[in-house]
Amino acid sequence: MANHKQIIILVMMCIMIISCQRAMVKDVKDEAETMSQAVVHGSSNTVESSQVAVMEHAVKTPEMNYAEYCSGCHGTEMDAFVDRKWKYGKEDADLFKAIKVGYEDEGMPAYAEAFTDKEIHQLVDYIQEGIANVDEYYFKNKENKSNVYPSEGLTVVLDTVATGVEVPWGMTFLPKGDLLITDRNGAIYRQSESDLVKLQGVPEVVAAGQGGMLDIELHPDYVSNGWIYMAYSKPNPDDPTESATSITRAKLQSDTFVNQELIFTALPYSGKRFHFGSRLEFDRDGYLYVSVGDRGSRDENPQSLDNHCGKISRIHDDGRIPADNPFVDVAGAMPEIYSYGHRNPQGVAMHPVTGDIWTHEHGPRGGDEINIIGAGKNYGWPVISYGINYNGTTFTELTQKEGMEDPLMYWLPSIGACGMTFVTSDKYPGWENNLLSGSLRFEYLERAVLEGNKIVHTEKLLPNVGRLRSVEVGPDGFIYIAVEEPGYVFRLMPQ
Ligand code: HEC
Repeated sequence: MANHKQIIILVMMCIMIISCQRAMVKDVKDEAETMSQAVVHGSSNTVESSQVAVMEHAVKTPEMNYAEYCSGCHGTEMDAFVDRKWKYGKEDADLFKAIKVGYEDEGMPAYAEAFTDKEIHQLVDYIQEGIANVDEYYFKNKENKSNVYPSEGLTVVLDTVATGVEVPWGMTFLPKGDLLITDRNGAIYRQSESDLVKLQGVPEVVAAGQGGMLDIELHPDYVSNGWIYMAYSKPNPDDPTESATSITRAKLQSDTFVNQELIFTALPYSGKRFHFGSRLEFDRDGYLYVSVGDRGSRDENPQSLDNHCGKISRIHDDGRIPADNPFVDVAGAMPEIYSYGHRNPQGVAMHPVTGDIWTHEHGPRGGDEINIIGAGKNYGWPVISYGINYNGTTFTELTQKEGMEDPLMYWLPSIGACGMTFVTSDKYPGWENNLLSGSLRFEYLERAVLEGNKIVHTEKLLPNVGRLRSVEVGPDGFIYIAVEEPGYVFRLMPQ
């Protein structure tokens, strides 16, 4: 039998435990209330009886349930999950049914046992909020009938500069203002004030799939040396069905390219017709950077240094290899490689203040990234990614890993990022040094406001303008964009 002392100790312990529990419940409630998701608490007169329920359920927000039960298959980020073609409908009732009874034959488990109906409804709401997040990109219902586009603090009017180019992929300006425009189908044009001239002496390309005539760039000392650089998918001399992203430089003599020099070929050649990259950009020291996509060999190319695909390479203006490139001394590594682990980068631009090379790249479904390129760094594809497979399942559960770079920013859903530049002029008050990226998929121009190397604000400009392939700032300080099919080049005139 317990003596007096033991009973007193027992009672004291009980009191301590109960008051301690109350304090904990309060903490949980306080914490829960600061979360954006509303959590249902027991009403005040039943606090005692609902204590346990609160302890178990208050912290289980739909985010948490999603992360624990769904993310393994549907991607860690909610938006990636909703960025899908719905098989069974996207109404509340469809989602509810899918979660409750599952599609077990297809690999979707039933959650009738794991969740109450209320929890399933909360998950459905959570997913629907994510869909609303995606819907903000669909401007189709807000068709812009004029060429006037209001934006935060600035209205721009589109001025047509060029038409008649099918897929204007790259643009660059000659010193006197003429615009050189590549057409993915293999041509290069010069647009002057009055007319569009097709140039001669252009290298042969394999214009198929995503390949063809791609980017174009002037040498930083163009005025004294006349070199023009073009990136394109070059046919394999031994097997013309294969191609590789290559760079040729040449000089323009009236309307013909002469003195062609092939300075880079991204090996190996491949019969696949996608993920060529490729953007060209010089830095302040005169090094030329070229982005090359993984060429569709996701598991072979980007993480292996024995090829140029899924890489940013860095070369001298004549193709020589810089002695301080990060892998020049690594046996078996391609010495041109500057960074690796990329998927398909189609935007490269030098930051006007820091001189750093910024890129963006296409993720899979979800997970387009912006990165600042560092020597020898690994950007993780396909080991880490915020994206998911096109069938809605994950190919990697990792979004981060030791030794791999986190993106500066990522887009969920994927916007199909293409073309990148900084606003280097003062023609657009408030936009100075902003980063501009084109969107193929949602057909707009994204403006990102930076604080140092941080993106602190974004705005969607020119909704519905067309599949935006290329963006540059001209010598006149105005922003030029190229959209495709039908191809147009527009100049943005601030009002
Ligand atoms: C083991 C992998 C797996 C897990 C875990 C999983 N799902 Fe699924 N889910 C699938 C597959 C596979 C499908 C079938 C659709 C498809 O083939 O894309 C599916 C389909 C669905 C659908 C119907 C989609 C449509 O296209 O109509 C919904 C909604 C859904 N899942 C929600 C969830 C939620 C919410 C969770 C977490 C509670 C979850 N799933 C957990 C694999 C999974």
